[in-house]
Amino acid sequence: MTAYLITGVSVVGGEPTDLLIRDGVVAAVCDGLAADDATVVDATGLVALPGLVDLHTHLREPGREDAETVESGSRAAALGGYTAVCAMANTSPVADTAGVVEQVWRLGREAGLVDVQPIGAVTVGLAGERLAELGAMADSAAGVRIFSDDGHCVADPRLMRRALEYVKAFDGVIAQHAEEPRLTEGAQMHEGEVSTRLGLTGWPAVAEEAIIARDVLLAEHVGSRLHVCHVSTAGSVEVLRQAKARGVRVTAEVTPHHLLLTDAKAESYDPVFKVNPPLRTAADIAALREALAEGVIDIIATDHAPHAVEDKECEWAYARPGMLGLETALSIALDVFGPRWDLIAERMSRTPARIAGLTGHGVDPAPGVPANLTLVDPAARRVIEPAELASRSRNTPYARMTLPGRIVATFLRGEPTVLDGKAVK
Ligand code: DOR
Ligand code: ZN
Repeated sequence: MTAYLITGVSVVGGEPTDLLIRDGVVAAVCDGLAADDATVVDATGLVALPGLVDLHTHLREPGREDAETVESGSRAAALGGYTAVCAMANTSPVADTAGVVEQVWRLGREAGLVDVQPIGAVTVGLAGERLAELGAMADSAAGVRIFSDDGHCVADPRLMRRALEYVKAFDGVIAQHAEEPRLTEGAQMHEGEVSTRLGLTGWPAVAEEAIIARDVLLAEHVGSRLHVCHVSTAGSVEVLRQAKARGVRVTAEVTPHHLLLTDAKAESYDPVFKVNPPLRTAADIAALREALAEGVIDIIATDHAPHAVEDKECEWAYARPGMLGLETALSIALDVFGPRWDLIAERMSRTPARIAGLTGHGVDPAPGVPANLTLVDPAARRVIEPAELASRSRNTPYARMTLPGRIVATFLRGEPTVLDGKAVK
């Protein structure tokens, strides 16, 4: 195994120092390190972060390998600075059995670019009618701990209660896509001024807030862990704030796009901006940013949702919702929060690793810890060219935008998956 001596690096924003990686772990962090056998990486001006962890990635395999595969999505993740991703269950077939989650887990191991932790479906076929084999998925080689019907809401309160009860036994988490389906029938975008003007059916904020309010009460009643996917409204933040103040075991995520883009993007009728939940208002964005900084929202998760060209480049009403996220998330975080490295490490690595129970991830580089880390050049600026992305899909909402920051290298257990900004394999 090659050793790597990373020189002049700022560890999570600290003073420049040297960092030695050997045998898969961080062997030393201090000034003036030397190691004859090590490959030297000059990291002057770079910041080392614990490898990023994404709690919400759609890898599309099995079933839609034209849009993404475990391998292509893993490569996109590594290039984005990630060392672990949680793969959502809305594949085809759905990841609702031990067999499918083990398949995804094995494909992740074979790709070897990030750790792929499968999420299991809550209900059979995501149909919202009966519980999937949660225990069998938990006991499988994939060791599933997070369950989600993402893409769909577990709308039936009795099923939601049962799911929360079931996972309590092994400290599992139910990750809810909060969308009261009766309030979003036919919805195309955020319900507000812009939807009224464009004549598109609206997706009201209350459809999200009502489910979160219900689910924090259920989680409180059962004493189980709830995670709320892609929080998008100021009202949701207030519900979460109250629940957390009461000690409910709830965590929440926000996506990069909900921190940056507003519903005004729909005026272009470009379906690249169609996403679920929809882009909201500037006031929502302000509340989400504040909540993330405070910790009312715990993490940034990408909701990386690759879609094939025919599913995106069509009329708005027919387009699938979703946006790419893995290769741009850190840049958006830098754009929104600036070089607040500790906040970025907390919200994009340490806390998501803790929620997902991923040992060895989300730990700052220090002697003896597994060398899962990424090197960022905060001074670099790059123009996003969809054709240059590693994802098999092209549906980035940031096409041709200039964004701050560039991932220079990513290490997974001491092996580089990205070097000089390029994927190693
Ligand atoms: O925009 C979205 N896309 N939201 C979801 O909940 C699902 C996802 C997908 O699978 O494409
Ligand atoms: Zn979702």
